[in-house]
Amino acid sequence: MRHFIENMPKAELHVHIEGTLEPELSFALAKKNNIALPFSTPEALIAAYDFHDLPSFLKIYYAGMSVLIEEEDFYRLTWEYLEKAASQNIVYAELFFDPQGHTTRGVAFETVITGIHKAQQDAKEKLGIDSKLILCFLRDMSAESAMDHLKMAEPYLDWLIGVGLDSDELHNPPLKFKDVFALARQWGLKLTMHCDVNQKNTLEHIGQVLDDIEVDRIDHGVNALESESLCEKIKAKQLGLTVCPVSNRFVVQSLTSNEIKKMLEKGLLATINSDDPAYFRAYLNENFMALQEEGNFSKEELLTLAGNAFKVAWLDTKEKDSYLDKLNNYGQKAVA
Ligand code: HPA
Ligand code: ZN
Repeated sequence: MRHFIENMPKAELHVHIEGTLEPELSFALAKKNNIALPFSTPEALIAAYDFHDLPSFLKIYYAGMSVLIEEEDFYRLTWEYLEKAASQNIVYAELFFDPQGHTTRGVAFETVITGIHKAQQDAKEKLGIDSKLILCFLRDMSAESAMDHLKMAEPYLDWLIGVGLDSDELHNPPLKFKDVFALARQWGLKLTMHCDVNQKNTLEHIGQVLDDIEVDRIDHGVNALESESLCEKIKAKQLGLTVCPVSNRFVVQSLTSNEIKKMLEKGLLATINSDDPAYFRAYLNENFMALQEEGNFSKEELLTLAGNAFKVAWLDTKEKDSYLDKLNNYGQKAVA
């Protein structure tokens, strides 16, 4: 199974680029930028990763961003993730970034997006891994701030495929950002939003992303299984759900393998993703491995999950078909 998972061509659709900041890179950038870290070694930093819910994770995640200052830092962060992704046979990735996590520290929007974009271009050319970029708004900040950041992105629309919504969901419903997402849609961007696992009012929030925001995809969205009518809508619209098993284990103490099985049984387009792999200590292959071990998933089920990611990726039909052909060929050889 390990070889089967490692060699399978995969897409990753839910990864926060700031969540790929490895402790070693954090130390290297802190040294370069003359920033004091409250830890003496990368190992001590990892030992302080004590997450048990979304807020306890977010606190450490935002603190980690302090070492990212210059364009070259964002370049290196992105390059190192894409290098790792390519080594795991990820052929296509859609990356989230959180500009408000940087502009609020005095780092310019342009610095952030240019560093990320240049690394994406180089990775395509030198590593053969294709990727796209999704601007995420922090839902615990105001709708005005989100709108300001969408407007900052206007000169860079060619570098973006869509917008997303992340950070702390408590008291921050999708509807708070209705106008921002409506404008993003007008500008031709795709829409997705986090519906994190076991959040307060989660079913109401999932209803809003479907009916009011009219998203093109849902990040996490596991609780939709509690409502037959939400499941039916998700299925009718053929929306992808970007589930992150190891992330779930950190914040809700379960890999949600039973839920992922149920999604497959219902014909929902569930996909497997790493979310914040440097913090959760698991990239995409480790997520697939952990899930397979806990839920005893068959090769066919793993192929379905990997195929779903290409189906719901923000690619044109020709590109999707070409990736799906590649996956089907792999599956036929590996399962035979
Ligand atoms: N949920 C909410 N905010 C986040 C996440 C997540 O999974 N990862 C990084 N920011
Ligand atoms: Zn996420």
